[in-house]
This record gives sequence, C-alpha cells and structure tokens, in this order.
Amino acid sequence: MPKQVAEQLVSPPPTGRESLRQRYLSVRRFTERLCAPLETEDFVIQSMPDASPTRWHIAHTTWFFETFLLARAMPAYRPFHPQFAYLFNSYYNAVGRQHPRPQRGLLSRPTVSEIRQYRAGVDRQVTALLDNAAQLAEELRPIVEIGLQHEQQHQELMLTDIKHAFSCNPLLPTYRPADAAPDEAAAAPATLEWVGFDEGLRWIGCAGPGFSFDNEQPRHRVFVPAFELASRPLTSAEFLEFIADGGYARPELWLSDGWATVQQQGWCAPLYWRQSDGRWEQFTLSGLRPVDPHEPLCHVSFFEADAYARWAGARLPTEAEWEVAAEHAALAGNFVESERFHPAAAPRGQTPGRPLQLFGDVWEWTASQYLPYPGFCAPAGALGEYNGKFMCNQFVLRGGSCATPGSHIRRTYRNFFPPAARWQFSGLRLAR
Ligand SMILES: [Fe+2]
Repeated sequence: MPKQVAEQLVSPPPTGRESLRQRYLSVRRFTERLCAPLETEDFVIQSMPDASPTRWHIAHTTWFFETFLLARAMPAYRPFHPQFAYLFNSYYNAVGRQHPRPQRGLLSRPTVSEIRQYRAGVDRQVTALLDNAAQLAEELRPIVEIGLQHEQQHQELMLTDIKHAFSCNPLLPTYRPADAAPDEAAAAPATLEWVGFDEGLRWIGCAGPGFSFDNEQPRHRVFVPAFELASRPLTSAEFLEFIADGGYARPELWLSDGWATVQQQGWCAPLYWRQSDGRWEQFTLSGLRPVDPHEPLCHVSFFEADAYARWAGARLPTEAEWEVAAEHAALAGNFVESERFHPAAAPRGQTPGRPLQLFGDVWEWTASQYLPYPGFCAPAGALGEYNGKFMCNQFVLRGGSCATPGSHIRRTYRNFFPPAARWQFSGLRLAR
C-alpha cells in the first residue's frame, strides 16, 4: 500500500446531500475542532510575516461572512464591532484599509474569548438566514459557498501556521499525539514507474457542476506534447540521495533566485528537518520524529523541487500535464478525489500505468507560473480581488495535502505560492 503522510487530520467527508445550512455548520464546527488542542496562548502567536495567528484566522473567516453575506443580505445590519473590519480584512482594498499583516501577532486584544463570541454571533445570524430560504436572495447563495470554501482554505493555513509557530519553540510542542506506528513492511512505497501520455489537444479547467474558484475557469483547450509522469510523489528517501550528493551545495542545479535563497537562508534540507547524531529528524504536528524514508517528501520550496528534478535528469510537470494525468487516472477508476477519507478505495500495491497518490498527501509543485487562463475575467466587486490580483511571481501547486479538507480537494484546483515558500505541505512529482 502506498505510504502516505502521517500528519493526516480527518475532516468530515463530503456527502453531497447536505443542505447549505448543514454544510455551513459542519465547516464552521470543524474549524473549532482544529482549535481544540490549542491553549489560549497558542492562539495569538505569529511566528513569521507569512503566517497568521490562529485567533486571526478564526476572526477573519467570520469577518468574511459578516462582510460579504450578512451586510449584503440585511441592509440594516450592524457590524459586531466597528474596528473588526480593519483588524480582520486580509487584502480586500475595495472594502477598506487593513491592519498590517506582519503585525497580526502584536495584538493581545480582542481576546480569544471575544472572538469566540464574534463567531457565535455571526453563526446565529447566518443560520437564521439559511433557516428561511426565502430570506436568502438567490444571488447570495454562491457567497455562502465561497465563504465555506474560504474557511476551508484557512483551516489548512491554521495547521501550517501553528506548525511553524510550534517549530520555533525549543519545547517543540505537540499539536496532537502521533497515530500508532505503522507496519513498516506495509508502509513501503510503490516502485516509481513512468506513466506515458500521448500528445494531443486537451481540455483543462472547471466548467462545473459543483463549485470552483474563478481562477479554475474558463475550461479551455491546451496542446500538451507527449510526456511521462511519475506514478507517485517523491519520497524522503529519494530526496536524501540528493542531499547526500551535495545537492544544496551545487549551484549548477539551481535557478539563480533559488541559489540566492539557499545562500541567504542557509538551506541544507527541507523545512523542519534537522540532523541529530547523524540521523535526520523532522518536526511534525505530533512532535519530533525520525524522517520516514517512505513518506512523500514534504515542506520543500519550488526552488528545491526544481533543483531536485534537474539533478534527477527530469523536470516538474506543467499544470496542464498534471490535470490531464489526473483526469486519466479518474477515468481509469484509480481513485476518488478525496481518497484519504475512503481508505478502502485507495489503491493497493502497484497499479502500473496509473498515477497514484494525486490527492491528499502533498501539494505538488508544478513548473507553471500562476497565470490567468485564456478568457479569465475576475468578478466585479471586492470578491474579484480573491484570486486574480495574485497572478504574478507565484507557481501553481496541484493535488491537495494531508491538511486539506477532503471536500475542498478537486482535480482542477489551482493552489499557488511564491517559489521560496515551504511552510505549506508541499512536495513534488517528477515528469519528463
Ligand atoms: Fe482569507
């Protein structure tokens, strides 16, 4: 059976039959479950400018519903607090000014208790709105859905951000205990095979049914030359060979910006890895443990993924190649998109000719810059700022990680981060 990332957290599986009200409550409660292991002091810490305190995440997602749903649905709506729009607006310039992101960890007020009251108050009003479908104008229903998808994005960020914060603490706190040690024999990864795809004019992007973000649209044709894709993500054991071969010290393997980052940051291994008595250890949400050679490699930047691929005589796939392969695998009945929530459906042993572990282990860096699809048009209004304005200097990641809520994962999903980012659950899959 393929070895998967051990840090998996279980969010409610999608049923497809839930009402919007049930989905709202399910997603909001899962955020609270993710907070359950934390102490009050954990909620307010910000360990770097890219990461946010948990308290900010749970307030910001609430502000999102308040601003884009309640204030629109109820003309007489009075905000919970007059300053929260300034504190918890992330980047919506059309809505107003924002408290500087790097300073989110400087605030001891509002308290965590006050933010819990804020969440409860907004939940009461949103569910009252959803209780009476006649109250909710048809054009506002998609906003509820965007709010839920947005909250799921922040659920993953809550985990990546608290992991980073805990990693900076010499006490190395544990977010949750580790699962029982896996059976090593059963945990060995499938042999890496190359899966071939013929050239052709292919369709990528989302045209429904079901939710998709604007950046996944419109569905369009691309010419994809013949390519081969690795049957599974790269493992830690395979990356250890790159390290042992001096990969971090060989400038010829790196993009110029990547090499500069290696020098500036002193990188010599993936984030959260450290050497102790000659053995590699990694910090996880379950504390420090030995690097598991069979696990998919995690917490590398685009620069490291690209350098590894060059060292290995291969390359990273484009996002079109990745999506074509994922569609092929789906048609072949190889997986359900959230396979980690249906272990019985996950492939066992080797399944030649089909890519494995596309969803729910690590986000896979692609070689594709995050750019608009042909014909992309950002929606009018503040929500048009959601995705489109970030289409510069970032790379696309595909698949979804062990920290991505299962109902948030889909084949056409385009995640994106700057090339030096590595605090997300990001790995790679080779192509050639
Ligand atoms: Fe957000």
